[in-house]
Amino acid sequence: MKPLTMALATFLFLPAFFIFIIQKTQVSGQSIPSGQKLFENRCARCHGLNAAGSPEMAKTLKVDPVKLNLMKESVVRTSRARLEKLVAGGHGRMPRQEHLTPGQIRSLVKYLQNLQKAFVLK
Ligand code: HEC
Repeated sequence: MKPLTMALATFLFLPAFFIFIIQKTQVSGQSIPSGQKLFENRCARCHGLNAAGSPEMAKTLKVDPVKLNLMKESVVRTSRARLEKLVAGGHGRMPRQEHLTPGQIRSLVKYLQNLQKAFVLK
């Protein structure tokens, strides 16, 4: 093969290879719904992807935006068990999560607490 052909082949092959790997990872991520996926699908609408609360949703729900902020100290200090109960059973204007298994609630709360650790308790 000429060097130019080789270079072209490499440049074409490498991106295809990475796209293949990325797709593989996403598929396996979907088959085991992680806490992150659950949070993005079921909580981010109101609490934001960063869990700091969605101001638009606060307006829609007519609640104080502070109530949607899950990164505030009072929530960070809430125990894992209490958070699991709150999330499963609902709270005030927050709907309860009746379609989630206890295991899913657990990984959801674990994900939230990891977010809090990463961004609040530095
Ligand atoms: C429809 C919007 C909505 C969705 C979806 C939602 N929440 Fe909420 N959440 C609220 C509101 C509103 C409150 C404040 C309730 C109150 O104090 O009256 C709240 C409160 C909370 C609290 C308690 C905060 C505190 O101050 O004690 C936690 C924890 C929480 N949500 C976690 C979650 C998690 C985890 C999910 C995803 C499974 C979720 N929420 C989905 C609207 C929502």
